[in-house]
Parts: sequence; structure tokens; C-alpha cells
Amino acid sequence: MSEWLQPDVIASAPGRVNIIGEHIDFSQGFVLPFAIADRTVVKLRRRDDLVIRIRSIQRPNEVITTDLSALTPGGTGDWERYVLGVIWTLKIQQGLDIEIDGQVPLGAGLSSSAALECAVATGLNQLFSLGLSKKELALLTQKAENDYVGMPCGIMDQSVSLMAEPGSALLLDCRDLATTLVPFDLAASDLELLVIDTRVHHTLVDGGYAERRNDCESAVAKLGITSLRDLPLAQLNEQKALLTHKEFIRARHAVNEIARVLDAVEQLKARDFLALGALITASHISLRDDYDVSCPELNCAVDTALAHGALGARMIGGGFGGSAIALVSQSKSAEIQQHIAAAFVAAKFTEPRFFTSLPSDGARIDSAN
Ligand code: GLA
Repeated sequence: MSEWLQPDVIASAPGRVNIIGEHIDFSQGFVLPFAIADRTVVKLRRRDDLVIRIRSIQRPNEVITTDLSALTPGGTGDWERYVLGVIWTLKIQQGLDIEIDGQVPLGAGLSSSAALECAVATGLNQLFSLGLSKKELALLTQKAENDYVGMPCGIMDQSVSLMAEPGSALLLDCRDLATTLVPFDLAASDLELLVIDTRVHHTLVDGGYAERRNDCESAVAKLGITSLRDLPLAQLNEQKALLTHKEFIRARHAVNEIARVLDAVEQLKARDFLALGALITASHISLRDDYDVSCPELNCAVDTALAHGALGARMIGGGFGGSAIALVSQSKSAEIQQHIAAAFVAAKFTEPRFFTSLPSDGARIDSAN
């Protein structure tokens, strides 16, 4: 099928690691992610009809064929819904051949879905001269995931995939999508951010994520505030009796995590990595105990990293599996990896995968005819 090889546009977008600021994007909080080097590359070619054909290099025997008139929000399907959802939110009126090369590990909590959505959106924006800004693309790709795929995600993953810059973490204010680049150069301090993929696959489309988001939203409604962003901890404690226990501890996670992000930015600027590490670990404890989205494999990775000298460690992303990060000195990284691998063997968990990644660039057009 030679036509697949002659795209009109090639676009790509990265996955992400979040340094700190978990499960607070939908509470109008602050988050501090960066883009990883792994990217999803999308080749797009216009067709003369209304047919959409999608194939993935990773699934060479499968071609998904549908029609623009058949796009159904909330419908069934698999990974292709992330692509179709973006075509739907961008209101594309012409058929397309789409080839995907997804290099972001799937189900590892590194936001492979946002990478796919943002690569497609960036390519379509170019191909049809839509003139949409990165902020508009972030909101539209989030809408694709919320309304088409049915996953009530926040705005973090799409924003960082679109707006990241090499060498920096992205401080994102999820209230208005204002961004500040925070230089993130660990190597200069002999440090690295080790990513530990537990290989426990999380499926965020099922209930756990939405259930917690609902707890946060009902806390907001009962407290009569506009978002958890506006809630001082003292007020939350005073008004505890208005909330169920679950609502209270979910809200406490959000309030504390938002404060930790702002603190982490200051520690990063001051290059105080011990203090940064302590905040990262505090985030894990809060996600484990108050927000309840960790799992035995993530806890094992975090506890083992900390026991063997990591400055801080935590689960990242939606949770229930996926990856953890550990802030480690470069000279100790290999040893810490061995300890984590051994702890996984002892606990009879699947062998974890390790990697590190430097802050890389956001979505881009790689070529256009
Ligand atoms: C998933 C969602 C994000 C965010 C994180 C948790 O990755 O897509 O919007 O809520 O979980 O921080």
C-alpha cells in the first residue's frame, strides 16, 4: 500500500513524566510535568472521500476503516478511539489515511494516549490550516478523551505533550493553562530521575479515576467553594464534619498536593534536591493513603528506592499500576535498580523495566508537503 508512504503531514508528540502534582489538574491545581523523549509519530494523508483508515506500525496486521459519518462519542472500540475522538472534536470533514508509530510505552502511566491525541491534533491543525493555538489544542484533545473516549481526565497530559520545551519542566496552572518553564537539569548535580515501569497495566477508563474525581467534586459542592484550589487546609479541617470521610481525605490530598507543587518549584530553583526529594515522597504517601491510587508494585518500587538511597520516590500518573519515579544520584542508579528488581522477584511481581529521560520537546510538525 504505497499511499501510506506518501503522507501530506508528519507530526509527533511526546509522553510525559510528572515530577509532582498528581490528581489535581481537574481541581484547578498546579502540576509540574515534563515531556519524555519517547514520541508518537503520526503520518496523515488526505483522501478524496469520507473514509478514515488507520493503521499502526505496532499492529501491522490490522487496518481500522470507518467513515466520518460513523464517528460516535462514547462508542466501543480500542486505541483508535483516541484518534477518532480528535477527528471528531476538530470537526474534520475530509477522509484520511493515518499511520501511527507509537513509541511511548502503553499502559505505563506515561500518557501514551495524550501523545497519540496530540500528535493527531497537531498534524490535523497543520493539514487543514485550522490555526488553533496549543492551548486550544489542549482543550480540544482533552474534550476528545472526555467525551469521545469516555475517560474524565484533566488537562495535564495534553498540555505538557503540546507545550513542553527541552531542558525544562512545565509548571502548568490548570485554572487558565498559564505555563512557566522551570529549568530541570539534574545531571549537573549528578542526579537522575529513574523511571520504574511496574508493568502493571492500568486502565483508567474504568471506575477508579472517575470515582475519586467525583469525591473531589462533591467535596467542592458541599463546601460551597469553586475548586479545591481555593481551599485553605485550615478551612478543610474546620469543615470536616460537612464531608464524608472519603471526600475529606481526597480533598486533603488535593489541598496538600497543590501546596507541594509550588514548594517543589522553589526547591528546584534553589537546587535543593534533598527538599525536592522529600516533597516527592510526601506526594507518594498522600496518593497511597489519602487518595488511594497506589498498588503493591508501586509501593514496593518506592519503598525499595528510598531504602537504598533515593532522595525521593513516588508513583506517577493516574495510578493503579504504571510507573514510579525515583530521584537518585547517577552513581547509585544501577545499584538501586538491582535492589528494586530483586524486591520484585522476592514479591513474585512481574519484572519491572527501568529507564530515565531528559526533558524533551513538545508536539511538532516533522514534515509537511
Ligand atoms: C491521568 C489523567 C491526568 C491526571 C493524572 C493524575 O494521567 O489523564 O489528567 O489527572 O492522571 O495526575
